[in-house]
Parts: sequence; C-alpha cells; structure tokens
Amino acid sequence: GRVAVLCGGWSSEREVSLQSGANVYAALRRRGVDATLIDADRDTLLALGRQGYQRAFNIMHGTGGEDGTVQALLDLQGIAYGGCGVLASALAMDKLRTKRIWKAEGLPTPEWMLLASNEDALAAGETLGYPYFMKPAAEGSSVGISKVAFASSAVSAFRRAAGEYNERQRVVLAERNIGGGEYTCSILDGEALPIIRIVPASEFYDYHAKYISDETQYHCPAGLAPAREMELRSLCLRAFELIGGSGWGRVDFLLDEQGREYLIEVNTLPGMTSHSLVPMAAKTAGIDFDELCWRILEAGLE
Ligand code: DAL
Ligand code: MG
Repeated sequence: GRVAVLCGGWSSEREVSLQSGANVYAALRRRGVDATLIDADRDTLLALGRQGYQRAFNIMHGTGGEDGTVQALLDLQGIAYGGCGVLASALAMDKLRTKRIWKAEGLPTPEWMLLASNEDALAAGETLGYPYFMKPAAEGSSVGISKVAFASSAVSAFRRAAGEYNERQRVVLAERNIGGGEYTCSILDGEALPIIRIVPASEFYDYHAKYISDETQYHCPAGLAPAREMELRSLCLRAFELIGGSGWGRVDFLLDEQGREYLIEVNTLPGMTSHSLVPMAAKTAGIDFDELCWRILEAGLE
C-alpha cells in the first residue's frame, strides 16, 4: 500500500522536519515507492487509518513526533513504521531519564543536576564549575541550550531552557562541561555505522552550526584508532538498546581531553536534511541516501 511520509508537526524542530521529509519522500519515490508527503497535524494523523495507509515513514522530529505520541497513534490505527516504538521514543526524548538509566547500568554520562529555579542554576555553577551546559530535558536540535560561562548569565539561560513549556515538560538540566570533542554514532538495523567527529566553528554544535553554517566541519571516519572506534560503536549500540531502541537512531557523545567518553543523548528520529549526520555516516559505510531511506522504511518490520 501507499506509504505516508509524516513530517512537519508542531515542535520547535518543525522546519528541520519539513526538510527531512522532503528528502525522504524524494528518495522513496526514486526507489519506486508509492508515497505521499504529509505535513502532519493532529487531524491528518488521526485520519491516516481511515484513508487506507498501512505504512508510515515518520520523520517528525521533537515533541509529538519523536516522543512516542505519534508512534502510539500509528499503533492504534494498525499502521506499521520502521524504527523505535512508544517506549524507546518517550525515553529518548527525556534526557534526564535516559541519563538515569545509563548511570544505573554503569554507562558514562556527564555529571548533571536538575534545575527547578534560578537559585538552582546558580548553585549548579558552584558545583559543576563554569562553563557548564544548561538544557531543556525534552528538546532537539540544541533548541534552548546554553553554555553558561558566568554566574551573571545563568538566569537568562534558565529562562531560555525553561521556555514556554508547561509544567510537566519544563525539566531543565545542568551538565558538566567535558571539553574535548563532539561525536555521534548512527545506528541502522542493529549495527553501529562509522562514527562522525563534529568540529563546530562556534562554541558548541548549536542550531546554527547544525543547519545554517557551512563552517561546521564533519570528519567521517572520525580519526579514531580502529580498536577504539569499534569499542565506542559497541558502547553507543548498547546505550541505544538499553533504552529499548530498535531499527535506527543516533547516539551523541563527547570525548574529554584524556579521550574518556561520555554519552549525551539518543535521537530516535534523527535529521535527514542535507546537513544531517546519519546520511553522512551511511555514505561512509557505502549506503547511499536512497538505500538508507529504503532500509529505514523496513527497519524492524517483519
Ligand atoms: N534532532 C535533530 C533532528 C537530530 O537529531 O538530527
Ligand atoms: Mg537530540
């Protein structure tokens, strides 16, 4: 049957998702898949089953699309989709619970504090030192993230991270600065793809460095010694599977100056824009964009 390519949505990553969706749609069409590109809102999502769709390629990043909500709607309508189900999607969207699970299982993640107020934000600077990172627990594409360098910027950073979210969603984390470098490991069909090293021209890999800047440098292969590359790939795969991940996704991590690793987060619906990372890693592994989309469409389906 026809495949619904779901993109857009109502999260802060809507624009990114529209780009991902257009790319995925074009790739599936080139592969001869009968697909429809849908800028999804609540009504169109509820009507998919009635309209005869039996399969979806969901590429709605962030709130709603990536947090288990849309996955549940698809499950209820009997519509199959590749990738993570409700549980892994909801957990990965929650950086706090993800970190707690990793910590409980002995996987490394930067020391953190939960912030409920401006006072907490100032206390975090005392405990974690400056600079530290402040971030909303349930966002993507670095939306709302600040690198807090001084006590005087902690309050505005807290306002940015707490954003417009309602009380249940307004969970703000402070994380120790790791220094070193930013890396990511893509997962496809139970295998980790080559690691990418990201070198942003700015302070960190923020929204601008992700989607707008042409100055961000990407290294894939990442320049790690082969044994170390393999060790980090298995760590990322394990981190993904520990939160129930399946099909495809991406695990972000840092290496400090001594080369020690710290897991940051899991993305269960990573970007598929022209600047995005999973397509880059797949290419290094010899999988072109069209093949990648085809495999994701099938990922985890019987
Ligand atoms: N959250 C963005 C889309 C990513 O992880 O690529
Ligand atoms: Mg993310």
